Amino acid sequence: MFESAILSAADKAGQYAELAAHARGLLHGEANLIANAANFAALVYHALPGLNWCGFYFVDEAVQGGELVLGPFQGQPACVRIAFGRGVCGTAAATRTTQLVPDVHAFPGHIACDAASRSEIVVPLVRADGTLLGVWDVDSPEPARFDEDDRAGMQALCAVFSSACARAGAQAAPEHRMT
Ligand code: SME
Repeated sequence: MFESAILSAADKAGQYAELAAHARGLLHGEANLIANAANFAALVYHALPGLNWCGFYFVDEAVQGGELVLGPFQGQPACVRIAFGRGVCGTAAATRTTQLVPDVHAFPGHIACDAASRSEIVVPLVRADGTLLGVWDVDSPEPARFDEDDRAGMQALCAVFSSACARAGAQAAPEHRMT
């Protein structure tokens, strides 16, 4: 059985370091993208306070011109497809830069999947070969929920996710096998 991560550090940087260690353990030895994305989203959603949605959008390689398609997430059902350049996620994908949005209503073209969302952070996921895998999107019902510590922490978490999924051919670790 997996337990929710309890974060005990006094500051955000310390809490993100603890969460990254939990993520490393959770994804250890498994390279399957969907399994890792689902567990990663569940871990973060239950560990961090003040979130109403977190999850992945992956690049749909079959679509010309660039499009994201919904991946594993926690929260309310969300819009399925987002063109590169549209909304916060599409902007992160097109620019390959983290989007820190203190007020989603002030962001031109913001796509409201959950009307409760007030602030948002989206981190692009870039593979080692430089191609874009997708984006990691986190929403909050609180205005300005995310700051520079969250930017650094979320980027570090995404590096843990990307490096776990990049280990092609990795076998599931014995402790993750339910026999
Ligand atoms: N708000 C995002 C869309 C995705 S949902 O928040 C889950 C955007 O503007 O790209």
